[in-house]
Formats: sequence, C-alpha cells, structure tokens
Amino acid sequence: MNNAIARTTALLSTCALLLTGCGGTNTVTSTKNSPNSTPNNTPTDNATTTSTSSAAIPIGIAVAQTSNVALLGQEQVAGAKLAEKYFNSKGGVNGTPIKLVFQDTSGDEAGAINAFQTLINKDKVIGIVGPTLSQQAFSADPIAERAKIPIIGPSNTAKNIPEIGDYVARVSAPVSIVAPNSVKAALKQNPQLKKVAVFYAQNDSYSKSETEIFQQTVKDQGLELVTVQKFQTSDTDFQSQATNAINLKPDLIIISGLAADGGNLIRQLRELGYKGLIVGGNGLNTSNILPVCKALCDGVLIAQAYSPEHPGEINAAFHKAYTDEYKKEPPQFSAQAFTAVQVYVEALQALDKKSKVNKLQLPEFRTELNKQILVGTYNTPLGEIGFTPIGEVIQKDFYVAQIKMAKDGSQGKFTFLK
Ligand code: ALA
Repeated sequence: MNNAIARTTALLSTCALLLTGCGGTNTVTSTKNSPNSTPNNTPTDNATTTSTSSAAIPIGIAVAQTSNVALLGQEQVAGAKLAEKYFNSKGGVNGTPIKLVFQDTSGDEAGAINAFQTLINKDKVIGIVGPTLSQQAFSADPIAERAKIPIIGPSNTAKNIPEIGDYVARVSAPVSIVAPNSVKAALKQNPQLKKVAVFYAQNDSYSKSETEIFQQTVKDQGLELVTVQKFQTSDTDFQSQATNAINLKPDLIIISGLAADGGNLIRQLRELGYKGLIVGGNGLNTSNILPVCKALCDGVLIAQAYSPEHPGEINAAFHKAYTDEYKKEPPQFSAQAFTAVQVYVEALQALDKKSKVNKLQLPEFRTELNKQILVGTYNTPLGEIGFTPIGEVIQKDFYVAQIKMAKDGSQGKFTFLK
C-alpha cells in the first residue's frame, strides 16, 4: 500500500490537470454514512468527512444504508469496504489506489436517483456499484446510461437489468438461474410435496420477476399451484394472506419479497400454524431476517449465488477478512459487492496497461472502462465470472442454504446443503 501510494505521487500533477478521472478537485469528499463495523446494528446515516487522496481513482457505491433495504445494503457496504482495503493493499490499479465514494440511496427510487446524480456530477466517479434493488435500478440506471458511466449491479436480480443499457452490467445472477434451485431442494427434502402457495411483493420489480420464475418452476416440476398471494414490501400484517394460503393446505410456501416483510411473513405463517416447507427468495437472503422471525426462521430454504466454502485464493482472502471483522460467515450480498469492486479494479488494471488511465479525460475513461469490464474474466469469491456482450453475468456455481436456528431463536445461521 505504502509503496503503491508512493508510486502514485508522481501522478499527482497529471491528475490535477485531468481533475475528474482522478477524483477531481474534491480533495475532501463528504460522504454520508460509513458502514457500521457491527453488521447487526441499526443502519446509521452519520455524515462523515473522509480525506480523499486526489490521486485515488474514485468508484461510487450507491446502496441502501438507511431504510428497511439497509438490511441488505449494509452487507454490501461491508463487502465493498473489504474489497477496497484488499485491492489497495495489493497495489490498487498498477500502483494507484482506488477510493470508494459512498452515497446512501435509502430504499426507494428517488434516493437511488439522487445518489447516482451526486456520484456522477459532484463526486465524478469513474463507475458505480449499485443500487441495491432492481426496483431502484430501473429508475436510476437510465440516468447513468445517459451520462455514459458504467454501472455494476451488485444485487439486482430481476429480469432485464442488463438490457437497461450499454453501460449496465451486473454480478448478481438473475432470478431465472438462481430461484429454481431452492424449489428443487425443497422437493429433495419432501418428495411427497404437491401443493404450493406462492407469495410475492407486488410493489417490487425483483419480487414480481422472481415469482414468475417460481411459479413456472412449480409447474415444470409437476406441482400444484394452489394460490398466489400478494403483499407490499411495506406491509407488517400478513394475517389475511397467510390464512387464505394455510386454508388450502400447502406443503410448500414460496416467498418473493424483501428482508423485513419476508421475515415478518415467515413468522406469521408459523404463528398461524403452518408446518410445511418454506422457500425464501433472494430478497430474504440475509441473516438480518433472523432477528425478525427468530426461532420461526428455522428450516427456511434460500438459493445462493455464493458459498463461503468456494475454493481458491481470492475467496479465502475475502472469507478471512470478513470473518475476522464480523465474526460470522460472509453472506452473498457482501460477496457480490466485493466482486463488483474487484471487477472495477481488474478492468482498470487491464485498461491502464493499454492506455494509461491517468491520461484519459473522464468521458473517455468511463467509456473505455465500460468496454473493458465486459471483455474481462474475473476470478472472484463467486468463482470465475465474465459477462455477455450486454452485461449479463456468466457464473457457474450456485447453491442452496437452509436456516438453522437455536431453539430459543437467539442465534442462527445458513447451512449449505450438499
Ligand atoms: N435481488 C433483489 C433485487 O434485485 C435485492 O431487488
């Protein structure tokens, strides 16, 4: 790191001329947030002032650090921060460090748009990792597309995200690839299961997209879809939908929603006496649901695009850094955010070797970087990944985990199924 920074000192004068590509005139960047070191804390939005080396290459991180969506977003902040530390300790971009610039999107579209605009126009980042929700991506990504700035979606799993534009890619495998695995795992645990009830959040793009895949999978597996129940991600009371479904005696209930609503729905289904299997979708894939449904989370199946046990050096490094800091296994949302930052770093390294990035004007820098992102392959904690020409992630390995709770509900974890 020291060596890396020393080597970049010589670049300072060039960067001062180029301004934007090297962090612009913002030698001091005021960033909302700063991730909590204890992930179970309630997310905060303390404004902190971070000194930014004018030589560092600024990458925007626009995820939810406040609102219920921060149950996912704070895991992304953790993963991105670990990546910044890790790659800078390895010399950053051929000697130039990266600097993550965080802007809180909160949980809605307006927040994502504001964060993107600030990162693009004020912080003058070279690319953005974000936003947390597909629902936000469909509003905010077109702004980045018009500004011609690369976006890497760290967790957007709805259909048609890369199709938003040429500058939009994602490292989060889509619902069509990931979701069916959990239904197959449920069938393996209960080969007799027949009747399935499906729940989804009708105000959320990813949930609508995922439920289509779940419903198709139910049919493809020869199961009977007995009811489709709708809710809102802001709901806390699911008594009527839960009762409607339970009356039809399903053997499996599948939920597409987000963490707070999903956790409450699981809890209420169990409190109303439902005893069958439950599959949760990608928006429930966080240990932050455990304090919501506590002991009643036990047994929930959730498909995974990351395994803490994935072999290889980079995952070992990520795994160690995460467990050292957070004292638990790294979750998928953190691994994907780490991966998104890694893609930027390695694409920047490759681009810099072709044409020194500190000599590029910002518009050209962003455009060339976008091209480089799409042609690279990356050995990441998710395994080796690449992108299709439109920015869809190409990934090989997927998993299913089951939540295992202590009897008193005080603790729990995701157990990966073999
Ligand atoms: N996978 C969820 C989404 O795309 C978080 O919105």
